Amino acid sequence: MSSYEFRIDGHLDAHRDAVLGDLRPEHHGDGTTTLTGPVADQAALHDLLARLRDTGTTLLSVRALPASTPGVLQRIDWPVRTDRLTLRPGRPADADPVWHYRRLEPVARWLTELPADADAFRARFAAPERLAKTLVVERDGHVMGDLMVRVEDAWAQAEVADGARAVQAELGWVFDPAHQGQGYATEAVRELLRLCFVELGLRRVTALCFADNEPSWRLMERVGMRRESHNIRDSLHRSGRWLDGLGYALLAEEWNRRT
Ligand SMILES: CC(C)(COP(=O)(O)OP(=O)(O)OC[C@H]1O[C@@H](n2cnc3c(N)ncnc32)[C@H](O)[C@@H]1OP(=O)(O)O)[C@@H](O)C(=O)NCCC(=O)NCCS
Repeated sequence: MSSYEFRIDGHLDAHRDAVLGDLRPEHHGDGTTTLTGPVADQAALHDLLARLRDTGTTLLSVRALPASTPGVLQRIDWPVRTDRLTLRPGRPADADPVWHYRRLEPVARWLTELPADADAFRARFAAPERLAKTLVVERDGHVMGDLMVRVEDAWAQAEVADGARAVQAELGWVFDPAHQGQGYATEAVRELLRLCFVELGLRRVTALCFADNEPSWRLMERVGMRRESHNIRDSLHRSGRWLDGLGYALLAEEWNRRT
């Protein structure tokens, strides 16, 4: 399965559903539309190109998206539901509810950055490269947490580097303290692992945290991640202290054995 982007002239109106299938349309100010999404194989690609041609639209370009491009999460059929939660890609309008809990001291103390105010946060949150790796977690339509999925290349020797492209993801999570202690993060991250291994076909996921952030590493252990490293005073906290850092990981084969 690969992700493709088709750029067409104008907008697709007639026969839209038949043509679009799993493709996500995005209209652009220059009058073009991009259709992005998964294409199973070459036969499906040819079929799609034929259907596009039949609509009479002008196809301007077709490109295969490397798995590590921001479009990677678009391969998933959103929203995704668990027993209690809904997971979906973040959008600019989520900035305010997310800021509502990220700015709180017990949360912010562990996060990589603490924007000065809501405006600064909105600008950071809405940046395309950030939104592309951000999911939000909702319960009854209310945003209670956010997740990061940063798909990346594994380390490889030069001759085999192509085989290591976009095969793993670093994960992250932040939940509103008002909704902690009820297993919501566990439920969301368990589903996130399924999405990474089954829907995205990744071979490994990783996560990092300060060793002092016990709720975070306990969450990693609850979902079955393995502690791979304990680095001594390697991470500078904004308090000015050098803290220990922990690295966790999980391989697809380990996850498969457990599920
Ligand atoms: C890391 C973080 C997401 C963990 O949140 P959490 O509330 O501890 O995790 P969960 O939602 O999975 O809840 C687990 C707790 O709920 C309890 N629980 C209740 N019902 C449960 C259920 N159905 N399933 C699982 N756990 C349940 C568990 O026993 C556990 O309680 P305990 O901590 O007393 O053992 C949260 O602390 C957080 O957002 N921190 C700030 C941001 C942060 O540090 N992010 C990570 C940076 S590396």
